[in-house]
Amino acid sequence: MADTTDVFKVSILGKDSIHCGFHLIPYIAQTVLTTLPSSTYILITDTNIAKLHLAAFEEVFEAALQGASGHGSPKPRFLTLVIPPGETSKSREGKANIEDFLLQHRCTRDSVVLALGGGVIGDLVGFVAATFMRGVKFCQIPTTLLAMVDSSVGGKTAIDTPHGKNLIGAFWQPEYIFIDAAFLETLPPREFSNGMAEVVKTAAIWNEEEFISLESHSAEIFAAIQTPSKNHAGRSKATRSQAQELLLSVIVGSISVKAHIVTIDERETGLRNLVNFGHSIGHAIEAVLTPTILHGECVSIGMILEAEISRQMGILSQVGVGRLTRCLKGYNLPVSVSDPRISNLPAARSLTVDKLLDIMRIDKKNSGPAKKIVILSSIGATYEPKATVVADSIIAKTLAEAARVIPGVPTKNPVVMSTPGSKSISNRALVLAALGQGTCKLRNLLHSDDTQVMMAALNELKGANFAWEDGGETLVVTGGQGSLSVPPKGKEIYLGNAGTAARFLATVCTLVQKSPNDTADVTVITGNARMKQRPIGPLVTALRANGSGIDFLEGEGCLPLAIAPDGLKGGQIQLAASVSSQYVSSILLCAPYASEPITLELIGGQVISQPYIDMTIAMMKTFGIEATRRTDPATGKLLDIYDIPKGVYTNPPIYNIESDASSATYPLAIAAITGTSCTIDNIGTASLQGDAKFAKEVLEKMGCKVTQTETETTVQGPPIGQLKAIEEVDMEIMTDAFLTATAVAAVASGKTRILGIANQRVKECNRIRAMIDQLAKFGVDTVELDDGLEVIGKPIAELKRGVSVHCYDDHRVAMAFSVLSTVIENTIIEEKRCVEKTWPNWWDDLENKIGIKVEGVDLASLHATGSASGVQQHDSAASVFLIGMRGTGKTFVGELAASALGWTFIDADQYLETKLRIGVRELVHQKGWVAFREAELQILKELVAEKSQSHIISLGGGIVETPAAREVLKEYAANKGPIVHVARPIDEIVKYLNAESARPAYEEPIIDVFRRREPWFTECSSHDFINPVGDLTSGSLSSAQAAANRNEIARFFKHLTRVRPNLTHNVEPDRRSYFLCLTYPDVRQAFPYIEELTEGVDALELRVDLLKSEKDYETIGDTIPSISYVAEQVAHLRRVTGLPIVFTVRTKSQGGAFPDKAEKEALTLLNAGLRLGVEYLDVEISLPEKGIRELVSKKGTSQIVASWHDWSGGMKWNAPGVKEKYDIASRVGDIVKIVGKAETLQDNFALYDFAASVGKLPGAKPLIAINMGGAGQMSRILNTTLTPVSHPLLPNKAAPGQLSFKQIQHALHLLGLLPAKKFYLFGTPIGHSMSPTLHNTGFKLLGLPHNYELLETKDVGEEIKVAISEPEFGGASVTIPFKLDVIPLLDRLTDAAEKIGAVNTVIPKTVTNADGGIGKVLVGDNTDWLGIRASITQRLSASDIQRQQGSAGLVIGAGGTARAAIYALKSLGVGTVYVYNRTKRKAEELVEQAFGGDKTLKVVDDLEGLARETGGTLNIIVSTVPASATTTASSPSPSSSNDRTAVAAGVALPKSLFDYRDGPAVVVDMAYKPEETPLLRLAKESGSSNWAGVPGVEVLLEQGYVQFELWTGRKCPKEQVGTTVLTRYRAQE
Ligand SMILES: NC(=O)c1ccc[n+]([C@@H]2O[C@H](COP(=O)([O-])OP(=O)(O)OC[C@H]3O[C@@H](n4cnc5c(N)ncnc54)[C@H](O)[C@@H]3O)[C@@H](O)[C@H]2O)c1
Ligand SMILES: [Zn+2]
Repeated sequence: MADTTDVFKVSILGKDSIHCGFHLIPYIAQTVLTTLPSSTYILITDTNIAKLHLAAFEEVFEAALQGASGHGSPKPRFLTLVIPPGETSKSREGKANIEDFLLQHRCTRDSVVLALGGGVIGDLVGFVAATFMRGVKFCQIPTTLLAMVDSSVGGKTAIDTPHGKNLIGAFWQPEYIFIDAAFLETLPPREFSNGMAEVVKTAAIWNEEEFISLESHSAEIFAAIQTPSKNHAGRSKATRSQAQELLLSVIVGSISVKAHIVTIDERETGLRNLVNFGHSIGHAIEAVLTPTILHGECVSIGMILEAEISRQMGILSQVGVGRLTRCLKGYNLPVSVSDPRISNLPAARSLTVDKLLDIMRIDKKNSGPAKKIVILSSIGATYEPKATVVADSIIAKTLAEAARVIPGVPTKNPVVMSTPGSKSISNRALVLAALGQGTCKLRNLLHSDDTQVMMAALNELKGANFAWEDGGETLVVTGGQGSLSVPPKGKEIYLGNAGTAARFLATVCTLVQKSPNDTADVTVITGNARMKQRPIGPLVTALRANGSGIDFLEGEGCLPLAIAPDGLKGGQIQLAASVSSQYVSSILLCAPYASEPITLELIGGQVISQPYIDMTIAMMKTFGIEATRRTDPATGKLLDIYDIPKGVYTNPPIYNIESDASSATYPLAIAAITGTSCTIDNIGTASLQGDAKFAKEVLEKMGCKVTQTETETTVQGPPIGQLKAIEEVDMEIMTDAFLTATAVAAVASGKTRILGIANQRVKECNRIRAMIDQLAKFGVDTVELDDGLEVIGKPIAELKRGVSVHCYDDHRVAMAFSVLSTVIENTIIEEKRCVEKTWPNWWDDLENKIGIKVEGVDLASLHATGSASGVQQHDSAASVFLIGMRGTGKTFVGELAASALGWTFIDADQYLETKLRIGVRELVHQKGWVAFREAELQILKELVAEKSQSHIISLGGGIVETPAAREVLKEYAANKGPIVHVARPIDEIVKYLNAESARPAYEEPIIDVFRRREPWFTECSSHDFINPVGDLTSGSLSSAQAAANRNEIARFFKHLTRVRPNLTHNVEPDRRSYFLCLTYPDVRQAFPYIEELTEGVDALELRVDLLKSEKDYETIGDTIPSISYVAEQVAHLRRVTGLPIVFTVRTKSQGGAFPDKAEKEALTLLNAGLRLGVEYLDVEISLPEKGIRELVSKKGTSQIVASWHDWSGGMKWNAPGVKEKYDIASRVGDIVKIVGKAETLQDNFALYDFAASVGKLPGAKPLIAINMGGAGQMSRILNTTLTPVSHPLLPNKAAPGQLSFKQIQHALHLLGLLPAKKFYLFGTPIGHSMSPTLHNTGFKLLGLPHNYELLETKDVGEEIKVAISEPEFGGASVTIPFKLDVIPLLDRLTDAAEKIGAVNTVIPKTVTNADGGIGKVLVGDNTDWLGIRASITQRLSASDIQRQQGSAGLVIGAGGTARAAIYALKSLGVGTVYVYNRTKRKAEELVEQAFGGDKTLKVVDDLEGLARETGGTLNIIVSTVPASATTTASSPSPSSSNDRTAVAAGVALPKSLFDYRDGPAVVVDMAYKPEETPLLRLAKESGSSNWAGVPGVEVLLEQGYVQFELWTGRKCPKEQVGTTVLTRYRAQE
């Protein structure tokens, strides 16, 4: 070898087998070949690495082996195998592939395997080596940092299974581990950071010195891998750069610790567990986020959480947590799950506390309600020499995103404490010391986001050196005397939402000087989204005017800024200082370093926060530079002009940072509000901070006793509940404390007006609004003022409990409300982590130092359980209130709804009139509108309280006018029951109202009233019912339209009240369900073919994203349909079909047409869908979580289809990502939908396996799993739940590869999944029966392979017995004369068949026997009564039948069909059913036997007299006797002329039967032939158009449709079947 190779060897398990260096490939070849002689060397790597490094290996190995040949023995072989990269290779299949390769190449026991790659290759190849030929030698050549410092060291090898990671493996030590750090130069930076997590971890548990090096050298370490080393630089020590040395020392340091631990504890008993620091929680997070988030990234978050647990236990100081956080951030690692890289992932929604604890429970190391966690005691040391047992409750509290404060008296009373270092002073001190000369030890520095950001930035600018002492309690700053440099190109200084840092650094960056080595020509400072809105304009204007080159890169006046390195010119500077004093401080702090002395003049009106300016000047003085404020020589008054001399700060050796006075306000306020005492021992009258005056100026005036010395403040609160409001307080000098004051004022008696805080509108959030909005949740009223607010205090007892406070990511909002929550039970502070900005361990201190208990609250699982039980899970009998404009048809709809539900209807106006004995008009006239509204409110309250069950209550249109009534309604809708807003187009309302006069007239145009009330109606209701276009109350609707309308009202109200949810029964195990996708821009285009289109399907999908109203037809590009258009579409659709609607807003990225960015609009439409009562709502899980949660909480009876569509073809059903999607979807959905794309047929098998495996999980939800594309059609055939189908009549398919319902049935049949069944008609004579035509037509239309035939027999004998016991028996119709005889052959009867005592339908049902076997039972049913009932309800509404004056029906005959007819009439609620039979005794027997002498049944013997007896109320007649047995007085029956005896025996039908004229009436003749029987003819001839005649054939059809559905589970395509049957029937006549 030409150049020497310097390797550093680390010993493990007694051998020097770890060799570290740079550019080691030749060294590796030489070492392996000489020390591990073999006939075959196999190098295994992945494609990524092969591309970069394989050639180099091949070259040196081939060359070396060439040289080795010629020694007699055959030349050893060098084989290479390249496998796909990524975790999926680490599987059983992956292992088998490698083994097959080795076997194929006849590798033997002496083979040496080389694993070149990351942890995946190392683990996999190591495991192969461990078992191949009972174990062969192998070497690790790690190429990722993670593999170098972690996975390659220790001998653990493993593969993954679908049950989890690393579950199968072995301990197998490699012969060598070659650590070639040069590989890191090609490693993606994210992978490098991934490995750094393990490096930081090792240092954190073991070696503080190492940690210090890591925390201060992140930039150099990154630089070492980012600058490629040329000519093998680094191979020898002589050629190694300083950066390379550093990198290697970091790696070696980390490996050495791991090697050491492994050596003393090889099989992981106690000590070795220490390397699990961060892994207990990290692994649980990883289990949820893999593969998107890398191991090290999860461990990084895990380390912080585990460190916080340690802090919560009082073991680790906040300094330790802060340093760890800063260090990990320095390597670009996420430190919390709210990091946008994580929180933006859909999977992040699964990161609930319960889920994480659950996963940790599975870990073999844990048992019972506690977990083993490595507890740090300080950086570099652990609490125990092993993992510590920690209770779940402690872990849960740390993991929770929200906090609940348990009210009570502080147990540490009297409290004495100090608060964290002041943020303002910390930031100033950092800048001063960094710019100063010499070393300064900063004590009590705040470890917070702000200071971390500031230090990181100063580091980046190479402005100073930072080091920690005293375990991090002291920061040692070595000042750079103002020398600063431009960060490398592409490196922006990121400041998060740290306002102070941003303002100070803006000027600091102008001090930066150009240098020839710069790669960038500007310094860029930027921040998060909120920071990018916060103002910095005036400062930039002033600096620009002074000659600095500063550009706004995005919004004018805000970050990000690009600052040119030109130095600060100095001289005269004018600055507008009315927005922020930080601008002033920023210039003051940097002023001494300008080229000329600066005179700073503050302009633009009132200077804000003078105390902070004074603080800056005071601190500058401590650092040796005296700025002076000018005074007006004439008046002696201070001017807003400052003179700052040139100079360099002199760092004092030690600087003690004062505690934060704003923070001190919280414990002091807690003392005030809880009537206890609190002393803050390092803030007093001498403080530099304005907020130090809070105790005196605010709390004392509210009734506390305050004692303050120069350095201490003590507050003693009055007894609880006795705080007094302060009439007016100007808080300009302590603006940050206003939130605390506001919280206290909420429970002080009287009004507190707080002024001088206008600037708080532009802080972390608009704090004034924030306080107003959050206080409102407690029921506390406030008034917003120009520069402050007024709080109207309330007694503690009157504040609302159970409030969840939103904190706007603002620490002060969170802490202020935690003060209030010490006296208000059950307050939840959301986003508890936002306190990190200034008091990261606030919650711990609240508990440990003040003595107020704090619990963790898992908002996610709070919502999850909330949704499981359903926020709107009201009782199914809960009354429904109707609201809406007058004239929308509330009464009409309400009455129909009540009768459909069998409930009582109340008109609230009538109720009021009866109650108060005065008409509404008169009431208004006499007492005025106000009195009327008050009376109306009282009535509303009464109805809510007293008629809470089984009522439909229609309210007056103006009920929403008063806020109090709106509150009552909202509360009802939220917790008790549905409130339906009945809506109708305004022009129709106007037309209708102009014709009406019962109500007092409006005093303003209707349209204005409408506009005002519309939003209130929506706000106060849970649902919208759209009344159809057209005037309902007039007779202008056709009877079919009216019937459709009635059906829809019944469907809507039964669904939403849960009386009968309109969900498809086919979404059940062992059933198949389908929905048709409507792809029209206007669904009405489908109506002419709606019956054909919906053949066989269980639901209709309304693709809202494809809807386009007429006005949008011409629009090119994205359109979003309006809510009113969508509502109209739903209303139209509802009038033509009762099928459930699947309401879908499919986004473009998921294969639809809805714009991806329009998430808000999508959620609004989905919400509208729920309000319209759609049965299924498709919710894409990629929508914002909060929105999804809201939908779930409002879904009521409807179901959520949680969906995920991957169109890329990249999603593989056997990859972990799919399960991740499934888990999220099954948390929010009642049904899960996952759609991928098939490239090959095999992809469908993978899908099938996936569906089968998740289907076995406990509580598995129904799954729609589909592959798109032609290759995926198989999956559409096999899918069972709600398979989307197309139809040949549709304009286009909703998705590629979609099949029609019929096609799928064919395919299922061919696959053997839908066997052909045989159906029969039993009876005699049946030769002319229409049943075969009916059913066979239906089967054919639906593509079902079944057949229906006649089985005519003399009696119920052998033939029938054989037929019903065949395996392919599908069902039978039974007709005369076997309706009773067949009963003994059946296993059981339905209730109806039992009651009627006759069977006309036999249904075979599959049942699971007690022993688990599958059996078949035969069920006897009776559909005759349903046929009769349907033919009546199609013509009469429930209110037509159940009239108040009493209602009557007549049944003629006393046989089996008569029983069905009576049963049908009774089920409709007919008041009295008269029964007539020629032989009266038979009728009496029937009533007695079948109906137990039911008193509402009356046997009559005189039809003529019936009309008189019923007083003309009879409006339903059903005849069940043969037509030949009837005769009419006017015209003799045709049969009578042929058969005289029949005439004598016939039933004489009088005309008076049809006397009823008051509404619709029906006469049904069950006689099948002729079509027009004497009875029907008589009805027609009676001259009464209100009577509708129903011929027997229609009843036959109706009952046949029911049979069809009972047998096949599918609706019969009535229209086509009916036409076919009738044509045939008429041809026969
Ligand atoms: N055995 C153990 O003790 C142990 C410890 C920790 C982790 N692990 C295992 O390690 C695996 C993760 O290892 P990993 O993080 O190294 O992932 P990895 O092996 O998947 O490598 C990460 C990616 O970087 C690519 N890559 C690797 N080296 C490269 C280089 N030099 N230049 C360019 N690209 C390169 C790879 O092709 C891959 O795409 C997991 O399976 C984990 O279970 C094992
Ligand atoms: Zn690890």
